[in-house]
Amino acid sequence: METAERIETLRRELRRHDYLYYVKDKPEIADAAYDKLLRELMELEEKHPELATNDSPTQRVGGKVQSAFGEVTHLAPMLSLESLMSADEVFEFGKRVDKGGVSDASFMAEPKFDGLSVELVYLHGRFERGSTRGDGTTGENVTENLKTIRSLPLRLFPEVRDVPETLAVRAEAIMRVGEFDDLNRRMIELGKEPFANPRNAAAGSLRQLDTGITASRPLDLFAYDVMYIEGEALGSQSASLHALSDWGFRVEKSSRLCETLDEAVAYHDELEVKRDELDYELDGVVVKVDRHDHQAELGARSRTPRWAVAFKFKPRQEITDVVDIAVQVGRTGKLTPVALLRPVDVSGVTVSRATLHNQDEVLRKDVRVGDRVRIQRAGDVIPEVVEVLPEGRKQGAESFRMPEFCPVSQSLVVAKGANHYCTGGWACRAQQTGRIQHFASKGAMEIEFLGEKTVVQLVEGGLVHDLADLYRLTRDELLPLEGFGEKSADNLVAAIEASKHAGLDRFVYALGIPNVGQHVAKVVATHFGSLDALMVAGEEELVAVHEVGEEVARSVVDYFGDEGNRSVIENMKAQGLELVWEASQVERTLEGSKIVFTGTLVELGRDEAKTLVEQRGGRVTSSVSKNTRFVVVGDNPGSKAEKAAELGVKVLSEREFIALIRD
Ligand code: IVH
Repeated sequence: METAERIETLRRELRRHDYLYYVKDKPEIADAAYDKLLRELMELEEKHPELATNDSPTQRVGGKVQSAFGEVTHLAPMLSLESLMSADEVFEFGKRVDKGGVSDASFMAEPKFDGLSVELVYLHGRFERGSTRGDGTTGENVTENLKTIRSLPLRLFPEVRDVPETLAVRAEAIMRVGEFDDLNRRMIELGKEPFANPRNAAAGSLRQLDTGITASRPLDLFAYDVMYIEGEALGSQSASLHALSDWGFRVEKSSRLCETLDEAVAYHDELEVKRDELDYELDGVVVKVDRHDHQAELGARSRTPRWAVAFKFKPRQEITDVVDIAVQVGRTGKLTPVALLRPVDVSGVTVSRATLHNQDEVLRKDVRVGDRVRIQRAGDVIPEVVEVLPEGRKQGAESFRMPEFCPVSQSLVVAKGANHYCTGGWACRAQQTGRIQHFASKGAMEIEFLGEKTVVQLVEGGLVHDLADLYRLTRDELLPLEGFGEKSADNLVAAIEASKHAGLDRFVYALGIPNVGQHVAKVVATHFGSLDALMVAGEEELVAVHEVGEEVARSVVDYFGDEGNRSVIENMKAQGLELVWEASQVERTLEGSKIVFTGTLVELGRDEAKTLVEQRGGRVTSSVSKNTRFVVVGDNPGSKAEKAAELGVKVLSEREFIALIRD
C-alpha cells in the first residue's frame, strides 16, 4: 500500500478508536493494539515529514514547549452566568423571561461543569485553535495543550452531519475526581504542593507551556454551546447539543428539555443528590431558554445573558474547629496527620476528620490544635482542610511536628522525601492490620468473610499477626470471638483455605508491595512464573521486563530483601499456598492463533477475555484477516463481524467462546 494511503488509514482508525474510547466509553481494541497503531503512524510521519498534518492523532502526544501563550480574540463573546441559590430565584428568572416577551418558553437544563471554559474553533471541520475564556473577549491560545485531550475531536465527523465552514464551540475542560486524587498523591509524594480541587488541577494542567506535562494529566472535555456557526441555523439549544454530539463531541446525555421551570428545579434537585456518585465535579445546573429566537428576543447584559442562569448546588465547604491532630499509620507504614474536627454537616454528610496529607502540608497550611478551619468535601475525595481562619488561633498553640516514634508500635520513624514512615514492619499492629486487610481485599486474594472489621478483630484479639497466621486459624479459635458462630467460623476457615489457589498474580498484588498494582503484579507473575524466581530477581533483571520501571524494581527488591517479609512468605509456603503462575498449568489450546473481539463482552469484559486467550498461547488482534482463527462478537458489534463473514472467518458468540475456553 502506498505510504500516504496507509497514513490516512491509520489516522482514520485512530480517530475512530479515540472517539470510541474517550467519548463513547466503549473501546473496541486493547490499549496495546492502539499503541501499536499510533507507533506505526508516528514512525511513518517521522520518515515522511511532508505527509505530517496538524490534525493527525500523533499531535495529541504532547512534547512541544511554548515560550508563552499568544492571545486569541473569540468569535463571539464568552459570557458568564448569573448565579442563583434557590428555586424561588429560578421562578423569578421565569417571570423576567415572561416580561421580556417570551411567554411559551421551554428550557434546557444541563449540568454545570466545574472546570475551565474554553473556545474551540473549527475551520472546514478541522480543529484550528482553542483558547481560554480570558476576559470574555480575548483569551490565551492553548491550542497545542488542548490537542492532548483525547475527547476533543481534531476533525469533526462529516459522515453524520454536514460540517460548517466555521464553527466555534464552547466546552469545559475538566479533570475527573479519580485522576485528580492520583495526581495529588503523586504531587505530595514528590513534595510538591497539591491542587486544591479538580478545577484548579484542570486549569493548571491546561496552562502548561510544556505540552508534555498537559498530555500526562488526563483531562476531559464536555461540549455545551455552539458560540458561532457559519451558514446554518441550529434553531435551539437542544438542537445544538444534538449537532455537537453528531460531530463527535462528548455531550452530557442527562441534560433535560423542560416544559416548565418546575421540571428544571426537579432536575437540579435530582442531580444534587447524584453529584457524589459522579466522577467529575458539578457545581450546579444551567437553565437555558431553549429556542434561539427566544434567546435573541431576550438579549444579554454586558457580561451575562438574560436567557440563562446558573442554579448552584449548596457549597461543600464549612467552617469548624480542630479538636486535635492525630497521626494514622497505613499498611506501608506511612504516617498521615489527620485533623480531628468538631463534627459538622457538609451538604448532607457529617464530617469529623480531614486528611492533612503529610508534615509539609500541615506546616504550609499552618494548622494547629484549636484553630478554626475551612474544610471541603469534593466528590468522593477525603475531606480536607482548605485554610486556617486567622481569628481562631489559641494562645500557646504549637506548630505540628511528626512524632519521632510510631504512635502504634513505638518503632523509630524515618523521613523519606516528603513522607514519614514507621520502621516497625510486621511488628507494628497498624501495619499488620492494613496489610492483612489489603491481602484479603477485592482484586487481591478476595477472601470471602474476611472484611476489614473482621481483620481488626483478629489482630486486636491477638489471633493473627501476619499473613501466615491466617492459614493457621482454626474454628475453635474463632468461636469465642464476638459475632462468630459455628457456621461463620467454618465459612471463614474454608474461605481462607480456598484462597491458596488464588494464583500467583493475585498473590503478588496481595502482598501490597509499594508501587506494585494489579497490572504490574500480573506482568511479573507471568514473566517469572513462580514466587521463588521473583524473590531472587535483581533490579536489572526486573527492569528488563517490559512495563517494569526502576521505581517498581527497587520496591520489589526492597520488599523481598526484608527479613520480616521473607519469613512470613516462608511460613505461608509451608502452609501449602500455590505460588506458581497458573497459566503454565493451562493447556495452550490457542497456541499461535489470532483472535479478534468486537462489541461489548458482557460477561467477561475485554481484559479478562484477553487474558484467557493469552494464557492459552493465543494473541488478540484488532483487525480481521484471513489468518484470524475466529472473531468473538459481543453486544453492539462493529464492522468486524461483517468483515469476518466476508472472509469466511468463523464467528463465535461470547457464550460459545466461554464454552470453548472451558472445554
Ligand atoms: S453556558 C451564555 N452551560 O459555567 C452561556 N456554561 O459563568 C454561557 N459552565 O465559566 C455558558 N457548564 O464555562 C454553560 N452546561 C453549561 C456549563 C457552563 C459549565 C461554565 C461556563 C462558565 C460558568 C458560568
